[in-house]
Amino acid sequence: PQLVIMGAPGAGKGTQCAKITEAFGIDHITTGDALRSNKEMDISDMDTEYDTPGEYMDQGELVPDEVVNAIVDEALSQADGFVLDGYPRNMDQAEELEGMTDLDLVLYLDVSEEELVHRLTGRRLDPETDEIYHVDYNPPEDPEVEDRLVQREDDTEETVKERLRVYRENTEPVIEHYEDEGLLERVNGEQSPDEVWEDVKATIEDAA
Ligand code: AP5
Ligand code: ZN
Repeated sequence: PQLVIMGAPGAGKGTQCAKITEAFGIDHITTGDALRSNKEMDISDMDTEYDTPGEYMDQGELVPDEVVNAIVDEALSQADGFVLDGYPRNMDQAEELEGMTDLDLVLYLDVSEEELVHRLTGRRLDPETDEIYHVDYNPPEDPEVEDRLVQREDDTEETVKERLRVYRENTEPVIEHYEDEGLLERVNGEQSPDEVWEDVKATIEDAA
């Protein structure tokens, strides 16, 4: 299948994508991870406000479309089935994507704002396995793993607020757009990760 997963910062996109890619054998294309691996890339020749992606990300702002579109275009050209996570994030990106490929489905993970803040400020990552944890909801069992966990640089309370603002302003119109196109399927993201996964899996199977 070819699908987009949408949802606010902290909705559980990365968590569900790990399960989706394993179950369906498709690529996880994530602009957030791609940009985090290229935070120091020199983009000054693109006539952008800042010289690197990291400067946008650490403030919770969107990285310029030109940079992100190129990442997605390249990744899509190599994918045989994919789940796209973190893109499109505004209407211009959505139009760009329409020129690149067709979609079977857009999955939307619905989570309340209060819960999002709690999820993001409590998120921890294992730098060795890239596994996603949470201090309350999903702590690691192995104390050795617990010792090496790190927090994402944009998961501070101030940056989280800005990311949510940017999401409401830029990304919510994209969700409405896919709803109008009849591509959007909503899943209640405020259940346990396994319950969300049951709904996600059934929704993808229905669309395929
Ligand atoms: P990106 O990496 O895409 O971040 P995001 O959209 O803010 O989403 P997150 O990764 O924070 O959340 P998630 O939904 O994946 O949640 P997770 O599964 O980790 O983007 C980062 C930045 O990159 C942007 O701000 C921007 O600067 C730039 N960028 C990226 N794409 C761009 C684009 N297209 N254009 C321009 N700029 C772009 O879960 C969160 C936490 O909750 C974890 O701790 C997890 O364990 C826990 N959790 C998950 N599911 C559950 C559950 N069901 N119950 C309880 N806890 C749960
Ligand atoms: Zn993510």
